[in-house]
Amino acid sequence: MIKLSVNINKIALIRNARGANYPDLVKVALDCEEFGAEGITVHPRPDERHVKFFDIPLLKAVLTTEFNIEGYPSEDFIDMVIKNKPHQCTLVPDLPGALTSDTGWDTITHQQSLKNIVTRLHDHGIRVSLFIDPIADRLYAAKETGTDRIEFYTGPYAHDFQKDKVHAVAPFAMAAKICNDLNLGINAGHDLNLDNLKYFVAHVPGLMEVSIGHAIVCDALYLGLKNTIQLYLRNWLKTTFELGVELT
Ligand code: PXP
Repeated sequence: MIKLSVNINKIALIRNARGANYPDLVKVALDCEEFGAEGITVHPRPDERHVKFFDIPLLKAVLTTEFNIEGYPSEDFIDMVIKNKPHQCTLVPDLPGALTSDTGWDTITHQQSLKNIVTRLHDHGIRVSLFIDPIADRLYAAKETGTDRIEFYTGPYAHDFQKDKVHAVAPFAMAAKICNDLNLGINAGHDLNLDNLKYFVAHVPGLMEVSIGHAIVCDALYLGLKNTIQLYLRNWLKTTFELGVELT
């Protein structure tokens, strides 16, 4: 069953706009869990414009679903991850100041350094995922790092989906087959939304988890957070009956 991990960075961005604890990030994360999210993702960036480093232990202390911390593996970041021991750490090659993650790892060039980091995180019992584009050689190289999973960077899919969805999903379907053969777990994220998610899920065999932030927060402005999370879950056919809740 595919898991929905809700990325709460945008909630933190709104909180940070006024300097007070409103909305309360921990409460929103717990509410997301109550509304059906099966994981919470945070992406603390070096400038802390979204989630701040001090948020991490507060979340870790109370979350009951999968906790995924993603980010660029600087020494500070890796120390923080090891201290807080999330279920999963997703390594992303975004440089300080990046507007958002916009490319996957070149796992061929960075294979040895990634391998060292993966080993360090494994030594602390943390599952690792590498943010990556659907390129065969990079997937084979990712496998050599020892990573448990990869996360497909789905920005290009979302961009091309409106024009030609068959063409947009093809590289991901092909790459998913390679991952399945290599026994690499598959996550996916970036720019997924209620329009393009169902088609992606249907064409990417072995998909285990999607992490979605921006579109959920935008949809929640109109639909409310509870309805929005449950509409996303419906993409992989969990009915409201199975969830035990009625859409409001
Ligand atoms: N995965 C990674 C590595 C990201 O950096 C982000 C954005 O923070 C996401 C997934 C989620 O993307 P979106 O906010 O577009 O849903």
